[in-house]
Amino acid sequence: MMLKLEGVDKFYRIAGKTKQILQRVDLELKEGEIAAVTGKSGCGKTTMLNIIAGLTPPSHGKLYFMGKRIVYLFDLMPSWIRNRKIGFIFQTFKLINEETVASNILLPARIRGHAGKKERMRMDSLLERLGIAEHKHMRAGLLSGGQKQRVAIARALINDPPLILADEPTANLDKATSLEIFRILESLAVDEKKAILIVTHKDYMFHRAERVFDMIDGKLIPIPKENMNLYFDTMMTPIERMGEKPAAAPHDSKPVKATGRSADKGGK
Ligand SMILES: Nc1ncnc2c1ncn2[C@@H]1O[C@H](COP(=O)(O)OP(=O)(O)OP(=O)(O)O)[C@@H](O)[C@H]1O
Ligand SMILES: [Mg+2]
Repeated sequence: MMLKLEGVDKFYRIAGKTKQILQRVDLELKEGEIAAVTGKSGCGKTTMLNIIAGLTPPSHGKLYFMGKRIVYLFDLMPSWIRNRKIGFIFQTFKLINEETVASNILLPARIRGHAGKKERMRMDSLLERLGIAEHKHMRAGLLSGGQKQRVAIARALINDPPLILADEPTANLDKATSLEIFRILESLAVDEKKAILIVTHKDYMFHRAERVFDMIDGKLIPIPKENMNLYFDTMMTPIERMGEKPAAAPHDSKPVKATGRSADKGGK
């Protein structure tokens, strides 16, 4: 198991009051698997990713990484996990706009203390693969949103981490560019056996994901694959739609099966 969360709680103290943000979150993710999480603004999605990324510790509960329990030291996740095993992709890209594309991509390798020939070669192959090789020496701030997110993906991959966390990575992109970014993420799971945990409100990743969740008030609720079609063309979350539906009569037609990973491949 690449990643396991067991009964993870998170409390924040806000203005003297304790507020529970995450409630007994359980999650398992194997290598090569995609898990997709949706949920209303403020329900705790980013908090969960931040805990997994080691940016903030859980209040209670256990985290396991590659089968080993993470032992925190002074509330910090060991840096070899944070720097080498986890790649993070953000909604707002978080590039250093004044620096070149190359410099942005190499940053995690520099933090690790390894930005030599091997990393530069890896960068070049990532640039090629992501279709941004011609922008290598350009300042990141000059790129389009889709190009910026490709740079951010290359940065997340430079240390070759087995786990990728993506927090609404296409929220600032148009539909066509979003699809391209999703296809890149999907190919990382399929071809490179990366485990991918993605927070998104867009349907593409839900069809491809092995596990799909709705987060409601800090609780992570699995959505059965056959209920995923309830998600589409609605601003409501799947769980809300399920609650809204009257109980099915015995002769009711079965819910449409989700297409799953095998269907609708490619077609670019
Ligand atoms: N460092 C912090 N200190 C106190 N409260 C926090 C902190 N970080 C987040 N929160 C609170 O925790 C709750 C969950 O925030 P979080 O960012 O995880 O939500 P989210 O599901 O990612 O929302 P969105 O969809 O808008 O990104 C919010 O009420 C937020 O105000
Ligand atoms: Mg968020």
